[in-house]
Amino acid sequence: MSSKEKTPTNLGEGNIPAPLFNCKIQYTKIFINNEWHDSVSGKKFPVINPATEEKICDVEEGDKEDVDKAVKAARKAFQIGSPWRTMDASERGRLLNKLADLMERDYLLLATIESMNGGKVFSHAYQLDLGFSVRTLRYCASWADKIQGRTIPIDGKFFSYTRHEPIGVCGQIIPWNFPLVSLVWKIGPALCCGNTVVVKPAEQTPLTALHVASLIKEAGFPPGVVNIVPGYGPTAGAAISSHMDVDKVSFTGSTEVGLLIKQAAGKSNLKRVTLELGGKSPCIVFADADLDNAVEFAHHGVFFHQGQCCIAASRLFVEESIYDEFVKRSVERAKKYTLGDPLKPGVQQGPQIDKEQYNKILDLIESGLKQGAKLECGGGPWGDKGYFIQPTVFSNVTDEMRIAKEEIFGPVQQIMKFKTIDEVIKRANNTHYGLAAGIFTKDLDKALTISSALQAGTVWVNCYSVTSPQAPFGGFKMSGNGREMGEYVLHEYLEVKTVTIKISEKNS
Ligand code: NAI
Ligand code: MG
Repeated sequence: MSSKEKTPTNLGEGNIPAPLFNCKIQYTKIFINNEWHDSVSGKKFPVINPATEEKICDVEEGDKEDVDKAVKAARKAFQIGSPWRTMDASERGRLLNKLADLMERDYLLLATIESMNGGKVFSHAYQLDLGFSVRTLRYCASWADKIQGRTIPIDGKFFSYTRHEPIGVCGQIIPWNFPLVSLVWKIGPALCCGNTVVVKPAEQTPLTALHVASLIKEAGFPPGVVNIVPGYGPTAGAAISSHMDVDKVSFTGSTEVGLLIKQAAGKSNLKRVTLELGGKSPCIVFADADLDNAVEFAHHGVFFHQGQCCIAASRLFVEESIYDEFVKRSVERAKKYTLGDPLKPGVQQGPQIDKEQYNKILDLIESGLKQGAKLECGGGPWGDKGYFIQPTVFSNVTDEMRIAKEEIFGPVQQIMKFKTIDEVIKRANNTHYGLAAGIFTKDLDKALTISSALQAGTVWVNCYSVTSPQAPFGGFKMSGNGREMGEYVLHEYLEVKTVTIKISEKNS
């Protein structure tokens, strides 16, 4: 494994072993109290390989009763005096590092499952998802014993200090596009701060999370600290967000469900809510940019993982004078793909996650055609099985078209034209979303002016999609609330308690 930082533009470089063909799925049950449980209802649900549309296995289907059991276990593990609450903070860090060690041991297996279950190109799963997950856990591990309150000089003869305490039981609802990365982005920060968790993986992709559950137990986390309940959103997911004994919920997924999660919190116990939602991120290319670099980053910005990224650069604004050349090069780049089973070497694009997403994307492509965008390449399904869609590029896209407004979450690039800086800033911000943005220019002043003006949680200059555990990530506007990762995420998993003590004398 190369230690070189991986970005979507350098994946596939270096030695990558073959996946574990015919690997057997070992863990398919509900994980509560470090034990495996059948669902209370007795129901199971099928998990599908999106490249073949074949069933991989059945998984126990968690619902409200199972969530109740998991929350009880998490609450007990959080009680004052419990092994978890009395553990040294440094020991929490050691456990997280141990979990990272075990993920490194099972690297190939986890990368294979992630690819097979999520339709993810194997080399990407191996290099990016696994590498990033392990580094995230180690980053969180190193925070565990560095979370500190303050002593505060309040008025009067008092001594005041703050404790940064864990919030309690955290519900964590996860999407299918980055099942493993999203899992560690949720559990890493929650656990380093000393919380306990009830996780619901996405119904499409529960398998790597369940394997990680087995590693949680092997690492030695006390029972009840991490509980994983696979199941559907409106049942198991809603049971978490409306639960009276869940103290916080962290959700990644659609804006539509993000709204429901906040409502559920408001109608139940005002649990803390952090949301990482969709986007329609602008990527702005000026005529003075390094064109090869801009074409490559803008391309990966939207086509990476079949376009199923919240940060997808799905509104590409290109300055008028280079527009035609940029479109030409982008189309050449998009035509270079080999589609197929993502476990096979040489395949660069896998399937979309499921039929629902596949239909949504095809419908949006259709709307682009109807609303007058120019189809430069692709535009339809690929192959006779699996949810594959041809890499698609639209030019002559205008702001009012659905493809320019709605999150597509597919391999579809929209290229628009602009003339002036003021115009492009206004157009880039003209959306309810505000997750990410890209700027390509050699002019530093222009880059700084525009990065200040853009309403987005992350702005990349002369690059795109570069994320790292040390950097905070999250959205402005309807792209979310709160931040994940970086030091900032700690605030999302801690309560601040002020303790004030009367003293007989005080000196400065
Ligand atoms: P979704 O938001 O429905 O699903 C994400 C997670 O939320 C899953 O675990 C799901 O089971 C859960 N969920 C669904 N309904 C819920 C409810 N009522 N209460 C609690 N949890 C619930 O996303 P979906 O339907 O898979 O995709 C729809 C669109 O959302 C995509 O086309 C894409 O535009 C966007 N999306 C954005 C993601 C991101 O990374 N920000 C990830 C996945 C989807
Ligand atoms: Mg949904």
